[in-house]
Amino acid sequence: MSPKKEADEEKDEEEMDYEEFDANDQETLETSGEDAGVSGIEVTDLPGVGPAIGKRLAESGYKNVEAIAVASPGELAAAGSIGETTATKIIKAAREMLDIGFETADLLLERRKTAGRISTGSKALDELFAGGLETQSITEMYGSFRSGKTQIAHQLAVMVQRSPEEGGLGAKAIYVDTEGTFRPERLVDMAEAYGMDPAKVLKNVVWARAYNSDHQILLCDQAMEMATDQNARLLVVDSVTSHFRAEYTGRGTLAARQQKLNKHLHHLQRGAEINNMAVYITNQVMSRPDAFFGDPTAPVGGHVLAHVPQTRCYLRKSKGERRICRLVDSPNLPEGEAVFTVVKDGIRDV
Ligand SMILES: Nc1ncnc2c1ncn2[C@@H]1O[C@H](COP(=O)(O)OP(=O)(O)OP(=O)(O)O)[C@@H](O)[C@H]1O
Ligand SMILES: [Mg+2]
Repeated sequence: MSPKKEADEEKDEEEMDYEEFDANDQETLETSGEDAGVSGIEVTDLPGVGPAIGKRLAESGYKNVEAIAVASPGELAAAGSIGETTATKIIKAAREMLDIGFETADLLLERRKTAGRISTGSKALDELFAGGLETQSITEMYGSFRSGKTQIAHQLAVMVQRSPEEGGLGAKAIYVDTEGTFRPERLVDMAEAYGMDPAKVLKNVVWARAYNSDHQILLCDQAMEMATDQNARLLVVDSVTSHFRAEYTGRGTLAARQQKLNKHLHHLQRGAEINNMAVYITNQVMSRPDAFFGDPTAPVGGHVLAHVPQTRCYLRKSKGERRICRLVDSPNLPEGEAVFTVVKDGIRDV
């Protein structure tokens, strides 16, 4: 090693040594586990942040790397009882770790081009989605009972396995079932309708029942971890809100619920991007007694749910077995409606 490089390294080490390690400070950090942000990177993973600074930052609300990355040096310096120069360095490191910063639009377009689409089985629905459900993002379907949310989930789990020419991605599906309504028999029906081998189709869907919201979060994190290794390109969470709704009742718990749900959705979003995967979540509607005009129903989850999923659709029943899917919100598609139906073979055009 050249003397210059050695000197540089020494300098780096010196600069990183922001904190004198106090051997007596054996208290465990509160930042671990629950409070690790979307990235899962611990605050103490940042160069120069040892247990003592980490603890002070956590106590002031800087519990994860995401919070630090968007802090101002002054705030962080006060919170951690550190100098502003040190705070600036910590913030810079956090931003680098999270890859926060600008990139040119052409690079983003390149990445967007690698997004795949999964057919829904209905031409009308596919057209509404400009070809099908998009990977790298979350699509939410909300609607009343029997409107077809779960049936679409099953259909997607079959379609994702088909070749790109046939509307799929040649990949597997992961299915997180919170309501106990997953039915392998329906996958068999839908597979047979396309002349696919039902035994193979069933093998390509991994399923788990989530018993409470923590369990649901854990399963989704696990799903994101195994997605790329398993070649899974679809994650279904049916439904994303039911446990949250059941567990957090009453006004006083609303903030806690929204915070947890928000974090959960951001995890899903990040996983969708990292794994180039489509995330399909379903949501119930609740009645809105204050609505005198129009549809007196609103999706559960309030503003948190309204902002994370890129594509939001409202499903409702219509005459006979008709169902109407309304694209309510999308960053790149026009609003619109499509009519489809649910039959033994699956989701089809009317
Ligand atoms: N084998 C089948 N053949 C024909 N239609 C079916 C079949 N299985 C289910 N369906 C249709 O799908 C409907 C159920 O839709 P689905 O379970 O997707 O509703 P949902 O929106 O998930 O409702 P919930 O909010 O209760 O979960 C049934 O009422 C029926 O109309
Ligand atoms: Mg359902």
